[in-house]
Amino acid sequence: APGDSQVCRDKRFAELKDADIVHFRQILGDKGVTVDSDDLEWANTDWMHKYHGHSQLLLRPQTTQQVSEILQYCHAGRLAVTPQGGNTGLVGGSVPVFDEVILNLGGMNKILSFDEASGTLVCEAGCILESLDNYLKSRGHIMPLDLGAKGSCQIGGNVSTNAGGLRLLRYGSLHGNVLGLEVVLADGTILDLLGTLRKDNTGYDLKQIFIGAEGTLGVVTKVSILTPPKLASVNVAFLACEDYVSCQKTFTEAKQQLGEILSAFEFLDRHSLELVLKHHDGTRDPLPDSKESFYLVVETTGSNESHDKEKLEEFLQSAMEKELIKDGAVAQDITQADSFWKVREGIAEATIKAGAVYKYDLSLPLKDLYNLVEDMRERLSDSATVIGYGHMGDGNLHLNIIAPKYDDKLVAQIEPYVYEQTAAVKGSVSAEHGLGFMKPKAIYYSKPPAAVQVMKGFKDLMDPHGILNPYKVLPSLRESSAIS
Ligand code: FAD
Ligand code: MLT
Ligand code: ZN
Repeated sequence: APGDSQVCRDKRFAELKDADIVHFRQILGDKGVTVDSDDLEWANTDWMHKYHGHSQLLLRPQTTQQVSEILQYCHAGRLAVTPQGGNTGLVGGSVPVFDEVILNLGGMNKILSFDEASGTLVCEAGCILESLDNYLKSRGHIMPLDLGAKGSCQIGGNVSTNAGGLRLLRYGSLHGNVLGLEVVLADGTILDLLGTLRKDNTGYDLKQIFIGAEGTLGVVTKVSILTPPKLASVNVAFLACEDYVSCQKTFTEAKQQLGEILSAFEFLDRHSLELVLKHHDGTRDPLPDSKESFYLVVETTGSNESHDKEKLEEFLQSAMEKELIKDGAVAQDITQADSFWKVREGIAEATIKAGAVYKYDLSLPLKDLYNLVEDMRERLSDSATVIGYGHMGDGNLHLNIIAPKYDDKLVAQIEPYVYEQTAAVKGSVSAEHGLGFMKPKAIYYSKPPAAVQVMKGFKDLMDPHGILNPYKVLPSLRESSAIS
């Protein structure tokens, strides 16, 4: 994998033996244990085909008790483990680096309860996000998060990456929406934090530490989550802006004028649009006559169709009059709304079809959000395609650099420059995807050494032998701050 030339296999970890496989078969039966290298190929390779592990064993537990027995055994025998959900992560966190045992939660996919009065859903970690959303829709609710990978990512993976996505602007992050978790610790201890209460200040809120821990502190086995009501009126507009400043001003206006019904505010540059139209099957240009440099997807969600439509139309009219937007279309039905969303959500897939992609997922001050894209385009000139898109409403830029192949010389032109520029404006080098295997060392650009030291203390406490997702998230103990 790119970058792994700098990482050596940790000699503390045992190598897999036949006796281990016999033991895991006793816990899981034959069906839960995969050793065939062809079958392991998918689980060893990440979604971008950028990171490739060398695991010889894939385990698929069906129950928390089995997860506990597996980890108890791995902890005692120093076998390293990579927890895995839908394997859609974008920082190399979900695949092994060397020969770690892959623990895939996909077999734990039962919905356990849903309370219509409070909107609380309790389910196993391997439930697919889209399946949960479909289940809820028929009961008048929706999941508080939505992302392009919804068809294959799992709620346990979402929690473990603290996934943001397209609805965060409206419903907030998983740190607010997750009400409880069941987690199995590295030594096999089952930690039952699966509360369903909205308020619970009894002691430290331990579940929070697992949200965004990327499988390094425990394995999430069950999730309790607050789901908002499904509202009757959803409108989606696709808008064109001449420059980035207009996008930013349109956002300010949208917050003012659409207020409580604003549910998503996404942006993409023309380069992203062209890439999707070229590489993503079934996408159509929502504004074929417009050749502007920036596009916005603005969604409203409310309870009153005529009120919401009127508000949206007034907002669009005033934005047109102020020349903030040059062109726009409001979806006339669900099919058209879906086709607008497909353009935005299809960018990630288009990038991997276009070549080898380097993804930078940055939180930046809104006014500076696009500077880095232009800067990188100039810096790299013809050697790569540079695109910018993201969750503008959350101040989250996705800077993607696409090259014909993965190339360390290109990386040297991008890093640490991108991280330095991000740190200079007090941004975050990991807004929503996590650090994974791609950027443990970059942590110091966004967190002070003392904070990283506390994180390492947590890691040692929760996982004293370091078996859970090694080489990920935190820089190794031998490496000190690169920039302090
Ligand atoms: P995986 O990729 O399998 O794992 C991700 C990490 O979590 C790994 O470190 C893994 O070890 C750990 N993990 C997984 N399951 C568990 C578990 N049960 N217990 C402990 N650790 C576990 N992210 C966003 O934030 N916003 C987006 O809008 C967004 N859009 C995306 C669109 C596409 C097309 C794709 C491919 C990805 C997108 N992502 C987005 C990335 C995002 O991180 C994942 O899609 C999702 O949250 C990961 O879920 P997963 O089940 O695939 O987890
Ligand atoms: C998105 O917002 O589309 C996702 O985070 C995926 C990506 O960054 O490409
Ligand atoms: Zn995103």
